[in-house]
Amino acid sequence: MKTLVAISGASGRTGYRIAEEALARGRAVRLLVRSTSKLPPSLAGCDIRRLDFGRLSQLVEALRGCHSLVMATGARPSVNLLGPFQVDTQAVQRQVQACRQAGVGRVLLVSSLCSGQLWHNLNLFGLILVCKRWGEEALESSGLDWTVVRPGGLKEAEADPEQQELVVSGANTQQQGTIPRRLVARYCLECLDTPSTVHQVLEITSKPRQAP
Ligand SMILES: NC(=O)c1ccc[n+]([C@@H]2O[C@H](COP(=O)([O-])OP(=O)(O)OC[C@H]3O[C@@H](n4cnc5c(N)ncnc54)[C@H](OP(=O)(O)O)[C@@H]3O)[C@@H](O)[C@H]2O)c1
Repeated sequence: MKTLVAISGASGRTGYRIAEEALARGRAVRLLVRSTSKLPPSLAGCDIRRLDFGRLSQLVEALRGCHSLVMATGARPSVNLLGPFQVDTQAVQRQVQACRQAGVGRVLLVSSLCSGQLWHNLNLFGLILVCKRWGEEALESSGLDWTVVRPGGLKEAEADPEQQELVVSGANTQQQGTIPRRLVARYCLECLDTPSTVHQVLEITSKPRQAP
């Protein structure tokens, strides 16, 4: 029987690509999104659970039967400066708690390069890098088989991902750099299948592949 992978934030630009890549690998997926979330046509026909991420019981119900969860939720830029705390901290904490209650053992969080840094321009939006670190900490202390993936600046470009090579390193080693969302999605799926990435914080960016 195929193991079921849940993907939260699957309506987001990284989340939907994670779902597409999981499907391309023949995985069974369940998409956890808000009642108002819009999904691309490529994900029509998937097992979709619409819920309130503020309600633990709804998260637990949506996660029952899943083997793993990839969290690709993240506060969208807005005037609500509490967004990062509500989404990148609290909604992550709640998803972690729900995984424990629902028996989901393997959990991956898409976080961000520079997570935990206080003196950073990105923090002008609700101390987002601090909030992300609090979310990571909840996962790291959960007792679950966790992986934190911290990508650099996310790019929409789909045209040239094959021309890029990944730069992967441990926690607090990369300060800048970018990466196409498609490559982040592929890397997340790779991590789920790679036991050595359990209990690791991994920072990823990409750079043009050198000609041989
Ligand atoms: N932008 C960058 O350069 C960058 C760099 C490094 C890391 N990151 C992080 O990488 C992750 C993915 O980024 P992205 O740009 O691909 O994401 P995105 O397109 O902004 O999508 C965000 C996702 O989170 C969901 N979400 C937002 N608020 C929510 C809430 N209150 N409850 C439940 N779900 C909520 C959104 O749902 P709706 O569709 O319903 O709004 C959407 O599915 C995020 O955590 C982001 O912070 C971003």
